Amino acid sequence: MRQWLQGAGHIAVLTGAGISAESGVPTFRDTPTGYWAQFRAEDMATEAGFRAHPGRVWDWYQHRRDLLAGVQPHAGHVALADFQRHYPGRLTLITQNVDGLHQRAGSTGVLCLHGDIFANRWLDTPRNCCHIDHAATGHPPYCSRCGNLLRPGVVWFGEALPYATLEAAQQAARACDLMLVVGTAGAVYPAAGLAQVARQAGARVVIVNPAASALDDVAHVLLRGTAASVLPVLLAAA
Ligand code: APR
Repeated sequence: MRQWLQGAGHIAVLTGAGISAESGVPTFRDTPTGYWAQFRAEDMATEAGFRAHPGRVWDWYQHRRDLLAGVQPHAGHVALADFQRHYPGRLTLITQNVDGLHQRAGSTGVLCLHGDIFANRWLDTPRNCCHIDHAATGHPPYCSRCGNLLRPGVVWFGEALPYATLEAAQQAARACDLMLVVGTAGAVYPAAGLAQVARQAGARVVIVNPAASALDDVAHVLLRGTAASVLPVLLAAA
């Protein structure tokens, strides 16, 4: 492993909710603590679910935002940020997470495939009367002139990922010598497909996950450990 890291000209890292677990942020598919063990994803993470019950979905995202305000990045997030700082241009960080913890740890150029939970955008195409800064208070906030609703700036199931971000992530996967896949079940595409893209392009693929994932067959190496314990040691060897 050490020689792989030291020999890797460029490292692409794909993270999922598991990298934030040790900061106290629930994952999605772990049981019984994962969000999808408590809620139906179609109710809470689709446009149809939001349109059906906008207040319930808005309040759930507010609850998640409030939780995130009280947590901190851990040593694994910091190790990734430190590596980027010590070796400029050698590590591209791609995340499925919307929690902003990589950025708070100091990572830069983070490719956020699924958006940002702290951002809002209009549910319907904004008109001249729709100004986010002047949205009327509500659950959710809305345009007082036309009634357009604000929604969280995240990618919901069935929605397209931001094109330029996905393109950059696929390019990083094709160009890397080593892909580190950290804390993802590998259940959601196109994000999960980046590991296969990297492998097919000749990269070594290393998974950091205490449990089995759907991407295990794509990996050359499986490191059965947690992000906060493995990443600082692994990246220090690079
Ligand atoms: N360190 C590393 N991995 C961990 C840790 C940890 N401390 N704790 C849990 N994990 C692993 C779990 O074993 C699991 O494989 O993290 C993974 C979390 O999987 P999911 O909860 O499915 O999260 P993720 O893969 O990021 O989900 C992808 O699905 O619901 C959508 O948009 C949502 O971005 C999310 C996407």
